[in-house]
Amino acid sequence: MVKSIEKWQFGDFQTPDELAREVVETLIANHEISPNFIVEPSCGKGSFIRASLDRFPHAKVIGLDINELYVKEASLSISDCPNSENATISRSDFFDTDWQALISNLFDNILIIGNPPWVTSSELSILNSQNLPSKSNFQNRRGIEAITGSGNFDISEWMLLQYVEWLSNREGTIAVLCKYSVARKVILQVKQKSGNRFSSYIYSIDAKAYFGASVEACLCIITTQADSNTDCKVYADLKSEQPLYLIGERDGSIVRNTVKYEQWMHLAGRDLKYLWRSGVKHDCSKVMELVRIGDNLFQNGLGERASLEEDYLYPLLKSSDIGNSRTIDYRKLVLITQKSVGEDTSIIKNTAPKTWQYLLDRQEYLINRKSSIYKNKPLYSIFGIGSYSFKNWKIAISGLYKKLNFCLVKPLDGKSVMFDDTVNFLSFETEEEAKFIFGLLTATPALEFLDSTIFWDEKRPVTIDILRRLSLEAVAKELGNLEDYMQWMDSIDRPMLR
Ligand SMILES: C[S@@+](CC[C@H](N)C(=O)[O-])C[C@H]1O[C@@H](n2cnc3c(N)ncnc32)[C@H](O)[C@@H]1O
Repeated sequence: MVKSIEKWQFGDFQTPDELAREVVETLIANHEISPNFIVEPSCGKGSFIRASLDRFPHAKVIGLDINELYVKEASLSISDCPNSENATISRSDFFDTDWQALISNLFDNILIIGNPPWVTSSELSILNSQNLPSKSNFQNRRGIEAITGSGNFDISEWMLLQYVEWLSNREGTIAVLCKYSVARKVILQVKQKSGNRFSSYIYSIDAKAYFGASVEACLCIITTQADSNTDCKVYADLKSEQPLYLIGERDGSIVRNTVKYEQWMHLAGRDLKYLWRSGVKHDCSKVMELVRIGDNLFQNGLGERASLEEDYLYPLLKSSDIGNSRTIDYRKLVLITQKSVGEDTSIIKNTAPKTWQYLLDRQEYLINRKSSIYKNKPLYSIFGIGSYSFKNWKIAISGLYKKLNFCLVKPLDGKSVMFDDTVNFLSFETEEEAKFIFGLLTATPALEFLDSTIFWDEKRPVTIDILRRLSLEAVAKELGNLEDYMQWMDSIDRPMLR
């Protein structure tokens, strides 16, 4: 147990020799890398050092790791390697190492290679670990938040950004195994900060097979070697010679497939009428979500039965329902206590006394909701609610599922359907309008445009921001349906103008 926590806090996944060798072969075959100096900043048991000594016989190799035992093992393991005299392996904590001094002693070309720790800052704080950068600004996060834009970040992201700094006025290449999401974030930041100074490449690797880890991982290469196209090329695996697609920055956002995006970029734009929303947020499913067990009789997530008026109960479809196209029936109902955010809830006392009593009896659960959004709000407040929630027809898509599965959702038992807050939706007064927009959204141009922008490895790939980038007006025009679109446009209200 102690050992596994140790491994966890040091993000310890040792690279098999076979994979390290394949990485080095890819660097030589596809990128003609020929370094004079090689640095492995967290070398572990030394697989990248052995592979480098073997294939880069003239390079000087420096390996460092925080773990004394690994340093000894790596040093022993190279004694039989050719050119072992070229390597120096020593114990050092990455965060205490004087990298400026070390790097300034090396001349071009430098190869920074390896597999930095696989651990996030929030995991480290759960473990109460000190394995974090510069105690001064890192522990209170400000420094890293400024760099990564987030309170929780991968330690490898921070390290990679350091490696890029080392190459800010040197020629060289970074080649590391990391999460695909880390590679993407770093490449975007490098692009924003350094323009076209670096070229970048991502090769997918099978993390399950090599590390037993269920994560999308890759070899990320960032190099000062020029490439005519500075978009990041993404390859299926280390043996591929042709990229699957190119990631790049377009219209201020990073898109997954620049070629496809450019084919459909005329569909980008804010839609004036149709505004994507996310479902209801209440953070208290045990009380707010119920199953019908009889006439006006319901059971909540605490296993308690209650007789309630129907007034505040609505059919609920969750991400799993929408993701699996289960829309003609519902399992649960949700208590919708407000028609708009911040609305006074005390009227429930008169309009539905049993519902009021039900909430009152369980108010400790609602008052103790952690999120600060509920502070200083009327009792039993919910979020993600407005007049749009009560329109009868909806088009919904789960933010969590890795497919563009739009569902047309009709009212159930005469009431508009509500969704949980991981579902994104548009709403409509009439079936005809909903069906018209559904036709636009599920047509190839709209699907290909959206697909080109979505990173499917994200935990929540289909975001409101992405959906809002598509102009349905432009799709209608593309499909020759602009006149019909304009008729709907002229009809009812326009949320963007409110
Ligand atoms: C994912 S493993 C990879 C090891 C090696 N690079 C490889 O590819 O097999 C991460 C390594 O980072 C080392 N490590 C963790 N925190 C470190 C730190 N603060 N300074 C230096 N090395 C560290 C761990 O001991 C571990 O060997």
